[in-house]
Amino acid sequence: MENEKLINMLNRDLADEHAAIIRYLIHSYLEGEDSPLGAGLLSRAREEMWHMHWLGMIIGKMDGEPDLIPAPYPYDPTNRKTIFKSYVAYEKKLIPHYMKEADLIDDPHIKRVLQREAWESEMHAKKFQRTHDKLSPEQAQSLPGEENELPEIFVEKLQQVVAVKYTQMLQAIRDAWVFQGNGLSGWQIIDFSFTKMKQLAHMAEEVAENGLEPRLIKGNISTTTSIGVALKNSLESVQATHGLHADMKNDPEAQKHSGLMTNLDLTLKQEAYEAEEIEDRLK
Ligand SMILES: [Fe+2]
Ligand SMILES: [Fe+2]
Repeated sequence: MENEKLINMLNRDLADEHAAIIRYLIHSYLEGEDSPLGAGLLSRAREEMWHMHWLGMIIGKMDGEPDLIPAPYPYDPTNRKTIFKSYVAYEKKLIPHYMKEADLIDDPHIKRVLQREAWESEMHAKKFQRTHDKLSPEQAQSLPGEENELPEIFVEKLQQVVAVKYTQMLQAIRDAWVFQGNGLSGWQIIDFSFTKMKQLAHMAEEVAENGLEPRLIKGNISTTTSIGVALKNSLESVQATHGLHADMKNDPEAQKHSGLMTNLDLTLKQEAYEAEEIEDRLK
C-alpha cells in the first residue's frame, strides 16, 4: 500500500479510537469513576488511549499529520441498556474491520498493531456485553447523571477550562507523535501530555458530577513541523491555562469546594513547572 493511502487509512482508525475514548470517558465520569460501572468504562477508555497512541506513533513516524477530529460514535441514548448494547455493536464491528486492514499490510509492526486492535476490540465487546447483562432492572432503565447544583455561570467557566485543556492535551500528543524523532523532546512532550490528561480529568469530573457532559470539544491544533515553534506554542498555551486556573481559584464559587481547590493548587504548580521546563529547553 502506498504511504499516503496507508496514512489515510490509519487516520480513519485514529478517529474511531478517539471517538471511543471520548464516549467511554464521558460516560465514566457521569457514572462516577469510582462506581463499578464508571471504573469499567474508565478502564476501557484507557485501553482505547493505547490504541490511539499506537496509530498516532505510526502516522508520525511516516511523516503523516494525525487527524485529531474524532469520528462520530453512534449509540442509542435511551437508557443504560441501549447504551451498552450500542457499545457492544461498535466494538464488534471493529473486529473484522481491523482484521481486514491487517491483511492488507506487509509491515510486521503495523500488522501486529491492527491485529491487536482487533482482538482487544473483541475483548471490549465481551466486557460490555457482560456489563449489559448484569445491569439491575433499575440501572438498565435509567441514565447516569445527577441534578446540576452549580450556578450556570460557574459551570460555563469549568466547561471552558475543559475545552481548552483538552485541546492543549491533544496538541501535546500530536507534537509527541510528530516529533518522536527528536529524542528527548518527544519524550518530554508525551510526559507533559500525561499530566494534562489528569488535569483535564479533574475539571471534567467536576462538570460530570453535576450531571452535565464535559465539553470535550477541540479547538485549533497547530500542524507545525518545527519543534521550536511547537515548544513556543506549548509554552504560551500552558501560560494561558495557568491564568485560567488562577482566575478560577479566586472565584468564590470554587472556594466552596475544597476538593476542587486542592486540584487547582496542584494544577497551578504543575503548569508553572512545565513552563519552566519548556523555557529551559528553548534557551
Ligand atoms: Fe480500540
Ligand atoms: Fe474498544
